[in-house]
Amino acid sequence: MNSEKIEIFDTTLRDGEQVPGCKLNTEQKLTIAERLDELGIDIIEAGFPVSSPGDFHSVSEISKLVKNAKVCGLTRANKKDIEIAAEALKYAKRPRIHTGIGTSDSHIKYKFNSTREDIIERAVDAVKYAKSFVEDVEFYAEDAGRTDNDYLAKVCEEVIKAGATVLNIPDTTGYCLPEEYGAKIKYLKENVKGIDKAVLSCHCHNDLGLATANSISGVVNGARQIECTINGLGERAGNTALEEVVMILKQHTDLNLHTDVNSKMLNKMSTLVSDLMGVFVQPNKAIVGANAFAHSSGIHQDGVIKNRETYEIINPEDVGINESSIILTARSGRSALAYRFKHIGFDVTKNELDFLYHEFLKAADMKKEIDNEDLHMMMTAFSRKIG
Ligand code: KIV
Ligand code: ZN
Repeated sequence: MNSEKIEIFDTTLRDGEQVPGCKLNTEQKLTIAERLDELGIDIIEAGFPVSSPGDFHSVSEISKLVKNAKVCGLTRANKKDIEIAAEALKYAKRPRIHTGIGTSDSHIKYKFNSTREDIIERAVDAVKYAKSFVEDVEFYAEDAGRTDNDYLAKVCEEVIKAGATVLNIPDTTGYCLPEEYGAKIKYLKENVKGIDKAVLSCHCHNDLGLATANSISGVVNGARQIECTINGLGERAGNTALEEVVMILKQHTDLNLHTDVNSKMLNKMSTLVSDLMGVFVQPNKAIVGANAFAHSSGIHQDGVIKNRETYEIINPEDVGINESSIILTARSGRSALAYRFKHIGFDVTKNELDFLYHEFLKAADMKKEIDNEDLHMMMTAFSRKIG
C-alpha cells in the first residue's frame, strides 16, 4: 500500500511564541522561518497579525522570505482580524488565513455569551470573508476536544460549504485521551457531508502529556495534517512536539504515513529554537534531549557497543546527531571503559583494563561523570606506575 503524506503545520512562531518570556524579534523569527522552510515544513504559522504591529511586521516579512512553505496568519472570527491578516500575508507566495471560533458549550456560554446557532453563523461569515482574500482558508473549532461531536460535525459541514479547505480540530485544553481524539476524527470523517473537500488537522495541547499520542491517533483515524512546534513549545504544558511526530511516522512504516520533513535537521532546529527563545530542552526529551542517545548503565552500554540496535530504535544520524554517546559513571562496565579509552587513542589489553577499571570505579564513586581529561590522567598515572 502506498504511504500517504501527512502535512506538517508548524506553529512555533505563533502558539510556540505564546510561552511566557519567549518573545522573539522579527529578525529572530525570520531566522527560524527560513530554517523551517529548509526543513521541509508544509505550512508555517507566522503569527497573529492583529495582535500587535510587531507581529504584523513579522508575518509580512516572513511572507516575503519563505520560498516553499505556505505562510499562515491566525485570526479570530471577525472582519478586522481577517483584513489585517490578509494585508500581512499579501506578499506570501502561498498565503493561508487561519480563522475560527470556540465551539464547546463552555466557550459558547462563558466566552461569547451566545448560542450554538449564532456561533455557526459567525464561523460561516468568517470563512466567507477570509475566502474573499485568499483561496486557502483553514477553520479552527477552538476547544473541539470538549465539543459535542454532533454539533462539531454540523459546524464542519457549514464551514466546508462556506469554502474552508482545512478543518482544524484543536484539543485546546489537552483534555482528550488518544482513543477519544481518534474517535472524534473518525466521527467527522464519517458524518460530515463534503468532508472529502477539506483536510482534517490535529492541533493538540500537552496538559496531560498526551499531545503527541493524540496527534498520532488523529492521523491514524483520517486526519492528514498535524499542527506542532519545535521542542513542543507552547502555552502551558505546550503543543505537540514536531520532532516527535515526524520520527514516529518515520520509524513506524507500518502506519503507511510519511512527512516531507528532513529529519537530519531536527537536532540543529531544536538547538536554534531553544537558543533564540531561551527555553532549555529537558535532557530526557524524546528525540532532541541531550540524553536521547546517551547510555550510562553497564548493561545497556555493553549492548550498544556490540550492536546499537539492542537499545536504540532510532539511528542518531537520522536526527542529525553524529553518534550515540557512552557516558562513564559508577554504573558503567569494563566494555564501556575500554570503548572510551579506544576513542581517545588507547587500545588497552585485558590485564591493563582490569587494573584501570579498579581505578576508574574509585574515581567514579567520587565524581558524577568521568570525562576524557580524567581518562588521560588515569592513563598517565598508570604509565608511570608500570614504568
Ligand atoms: O489551541 C487552540 O485552540 C489554538 C487555536 C487558536 C488554533 O491554538
Ligand atoms: Zn493551540
